[in-house]
Formats: sequence, C-alpha cells, structure tokens
Amino acid sequence: IFLHISVCLGEDYDLDDKTGLGRSFDGIGGLSGGGATSRLLVNYAEPYRSQILDYLFRPQFGASLQILKVEIGGDAQTTDGTEPSHMHYEDDENYFRGYEWWLMREAKKRNPNITLIGLPWAFPGWVGNGGNWPYSFPDITASYVVSWILGAKQYHDLDIDYVGIWNERSFNSKYIKLLRYTLDKRGLERVKIIASDNLWEPITSVVFADKDLQDAVEILGVHYPGTNTVPKALKTGKKLWSSEDYSTFNDNVGGGCWARILNQNYVNGKMTATISWNLVSSYYDDLPFGRDGLMTANEPWSGNYVVESPIWITAHTTQFTEPGWMYLQTVGHFTHSGSYVALTDERGNLTIITETMTHDHSVCIRPPLLPYNVTAQNVTFHLKGTFVSGSFSIELDVDEVYTFTTVRNGHRGNYPDPPPSAPFPKSYKDDFDVSGNPYFSEAPNFADQTGVFEYFTNLTDPGPHNSTLRQVVTQRPVTWVADADQTISVIGDYKWHDLMVSCDIYMEAVHTGGVFVAVRVDKGGGVIRSTRGIFFWVYADGTYKVTNDLRGMTVLAEGLSGTRARVWYTLTLTVKGNYASADLNGYPLWKNAVLWEPRHGWVAIGTSSFELAQFDNFAIEALA
Ligand code: GAL
Repeated sequence: IFLHISVCLGEDYDLDDKTGLGRSFDGIGGLSGGGATSRLLVNYAEPYRSQILDYLFRPQFGASLQILKVEIGGDAQTTDGTEPSHMHYEDDENYFRGYEWWLMREAKKRNPNITLIGLPWAFPGWVGNGGNWPYSFPDITASYVVSWILGAKQYHDLDIDYVGIWNERSFNSKYIKLLRYTLDKRGLERVKIIASDNLWEPITSVVFADKDLQDAVEILGVHYPGTNTVPKALKTGKKLWSSEDYSTFNDNVGGGCWARILNQNYVNGKMTATISWNLVSSYYDDLPFGRDGLMTANEPWSGNYVVESPIWITAHTTQFTEPGWMYLQTVGHFTHSGSYVALTDERGNLTIITETMTHDHSVCIRPPLLPYNVTAQNVTFHLKGTFVSGSFSIELDVDEVYTFTTVRNGHRGNYPDPPPSAPFPKSYKDDFDVSGNPYFSEAPNFADQTGVFEYFTNLTDPGPHNSTLRQVVTQRPVTWVADADQTISVIGDYKWHDLMVSCDIYMEAVHTGGVFVAVRVDKGGGVIRSTRGIFFWVYADGTYKVTNDLRGMTVLAEGLSGTRARVWYTLTLTVKGNYASADLNGYPLWKNAVLWEPRHGWVAIGTSSFELAQFDNFAIEALA
C-alpha cells in the first residue's frame, strides 16, 4: 500500500543551483575511424551524402553532434579496415589522403563550433623504425603526430582541439610529455592532450603521482566505463571523458544503451563528454561490429541510408545544450530507477533530460550490465535557486526519454525517404581513370583490410595504364591488431558465390613480386590473417598459385605462368559451384580446381607482401 501511494503521488526532485553548479559539459560526439568506419560514406551521390552529414552534424536538425573524433590513419588494420597515413614513408607528406579531412571539413561547415579530436590507432612502420612499438623513438612519434595537426591547419584550415596517445594500447609518460613539449614548440599550445583512451588505470595513478604529467594531460579519457569512474580519477581534478563508448547495434536497444549512458556517464561517473564508436556505419555489414554507428549509410550504390534511433537520442541532449553549459549538482537517479540530468548556460536557460530505460532495452556491447528494475513513476521537479521557482510533474513510463527545456529552437530535421535498399551491383567496373586531382585518394567501394590502395598516375606511361590503383604500403606498420603479411582490399556483396572477376595487374617488385585476385573472401577486420577464399596469384618469378586462404597454406593448384615484374597482365578468375578456373591474358591458365569452402564472400585484390603493385580495369560479373 505504501508503494502504491508513493507511485500515485510521485517523488520530488529539486533542481537547484543555490550551492553552486556541477562540472562543465563538454559535449556528445561521434568517432570516425578505428577503423575505416566512414569508408563507404564518401561515395554517396548528392543529395544523399549531404543529407547524411546534416543528420549527423547540422545544428538543430538531427544528432547535432558537438564533437567529432577521427582516427589519425596509420596504414594498418584498425577494426573495419585500414586508414591511410599522411606519411606513408619518412620522406613523404600528403594531407589529402582518405576521407577524415573531408569529414572534418563537412562537420565544421555545418557547425563551426564542433570540437575536433585526433587519435592514432597505428603508425607507419618507419615511425617504429621497423619495430612494432611507437615509443622507441618518442621524438619521431611526437613530430609525426604533430605534423598531422599542423597539416590539418595548413591544408584544410582545421583547428584540432585535442589529440590522444595510442588507442587502447600502452602509454608512455616520457612520450606524453614530449608530445606536449612538441605541440608547444610548434605554437599549438591550444591543442590539449587526452590520455590514455583505455581503462581508468594505470593512467589515473600515473597522472596522480607525476606533477609534470598532470600539467601535460588535460583530460582523462576512458573507454566503455559502464558509466562509472574511480575515486582517484575524481581526485586528480582532471576532466573525465568517456572518449569512446557505445559500439552497440543501432536498433532501439542500441538507442536505449545510448540514452542510458549519455545521462549516467555524468550521474554516476562525472564524465562530461561521451563519444560514440562509431559515428556512422559506413562499412560493409559483414565486417566486424556491423551497424554499431549512430546511423547506417553503407549503400552508396543505391543511395539508401537509415536514420536510426541513436540519432534522435543524441538530439535530446545536443539540440538543447552547448559545450560550456554547466551540469547542476542536482542530478541523479529516480526512486524507481532511471536518471535525470540538468544543465544550464548560467544565463537563465535550463535543460533537463530524463531516461527510464529498462535493463533489456538498454544493454550495451560492454561492460556487462547488472540487473535492475525500473517501473512507471510520477516525478515532480522543483525549480529552485536562480531558476524561477515553481514545479512541474510528469508521469514517466518505462523506456522513455524526455527533454524539458527553455531552449525553443529544437527541430526534428527531415528529408524525403532516400532510395530503397539494393544489393551491390552484379555487374561492376572500375578503370580508376580519375581526371585531374581526384578529391578522394581511394577508389569507391574498395575496403582495404591490410595495406593501402590509392589512385595513382603513371607519369612515365601515357598509355592505357596511365591511371591505376596502387598498393603503397611497403613496410609492416606499427600495428593495432594483427595485419596480414599480404595486402588485401575487399569489395562487393558478401553473399556472392558464383562469379567472374578480371583485373589488369602490374607487379613492381622485381623477382619477389606477387599479386592476386580473389572471390568468396570470408573475413575482414582484425581476423584478416585467417581469411579464406579462392585466391588466384601470379608471381614475378614466373609462377602462379591457387590457394584457399590468404596465407597460402592450402594450395589448390600451382604451375608456371611466365609472369614477371613491370609487365601488365590481365587475370580472370571464374568460380561456379565447386569449380574454379582462370585465364591469363585471355588464355586458359588452369581450370577445374575443386572448392568446398568458403561458399560465399567478397571479391578482393592484393599483393603477396608489403610491396608496390598496380591494378587497372577491374571488373566483376556476378552470376549469383
Ligand atoms: C574499441 C576500439 C574501436 C573498435 C571498437 C569495437 O575498443 O577502440 O576501434 O574496435 O572497440 O567495439
């Protein structure tokens, strides 16, 4: 009976700034990269591409994101592919590779106040001087990272606000201090350091104990904190951020996860920014963590995209706050579960966000969520302190999010429905002929899984192979996961099984070169080393091979091909049912290789080692 009465009458919650305010709010963001999560976005035709960007970044329209964090490409596999470095080689610098520059510009165009963050997952091999470690030569690593920030300004007029250390890997105090020193020396005092994009410890204790490190680090950034912090982190006096979070399938449960953590990262953990991995699911669904973005846009060939619930959950906070607003101290949990936060601009505006997410409708990918019970409840908020005193009541049912605000310009942006979803075209061609300076360095739809494949102009060859696609990584990077020993880029429909693929290829490595085309390629991402498929290789030593895996452990056929480096050849691979055959320059080279597994997968091209090689006149005819 007592419970019943309390539900009817409801509970009272004061919103009061009399005894001061809480922490300063730093924003809600999305993460592009870590890795290649925006790969397919850049190839959308207009107006769809701009519409997607509007849903993400345009203020008072959709997610209205306040932070954009991007990967500083390191030429290595970082979850859903590789992202190109601005310095493939020690003597190389190019600030127009990949799509993160473009994305940051598009975000800034829509919201000039958006906060920009860069973080490396991996580094080109030369940064580690051949070792798989970025701290052996910390001065080299620091100047490599700082050049990315300088390049952002010089070539794109982008001011990077924060930079991180090494995503979810070891940090090194000496390196962090050197990075601070190098930033300052290059006039980048305004660029602040986040550390260490991993767990609360050991960074918290190390910062706590080291005065110089305290000066160097601005933000303690933690990943997937499960809305909690540790007492020592609070004691450092540093700002606390969930610098990567979410990574949950973007259906309504994903939306529930996002709603719960956006509120409770502050209520429980005093974290003042939360960043979603990832920004937008613009990578093939069958790569790892498919659809773990705020929305989905991975069909540039059809123009279809889906604005998922996390976009609108984000809007509940972002459209009614700005970074720099202050949390009230009076935030918390409701008596019957759920939470509320309140923020003010200290000029009379007040925004309150409530969430009553049930356990099963708000589970995130990690960490585990302990059971709890939430029920419908009446709540009454009493406005006190500098807010005009008064109160209001609301009946909150379960799985609801509300924003109560004095801000009047919130808006649910809307575009007409995009074209319907469609599979990857069965008949597909790319001759890589991009006139002038292509805006993007990579060919549409290719998703590099080890190595980097870029448009290339053969200045010395005005002939038919003047514009090609070239694999350019020549040394194993300082990796984030285990890249393959071969390079590989995948494309197409994962369901394809019977098809013909042809491609002109050109090995550059004399004697040691090797190149393949493949079908039914069954894995990408961090497990790329164990990828299987039907791989047709030719080598510069005059031989060919057919293997059932990228590693080349299972050989289905082999023999002489007469192929050598610096000559163009046309490879054609046909796979139907349990049989494969191939042509070299239009003449049969081998046939009737017998296949069992895998039954389907992507098409791929690649090389037998980290070596230069070129590709041209790529064509697919999928039968089924
Ligand atoms: C994170 C990592 C991201 C991505 C994500 C997938 O730990 O930083 O790059 O791999 O996990 O859940």
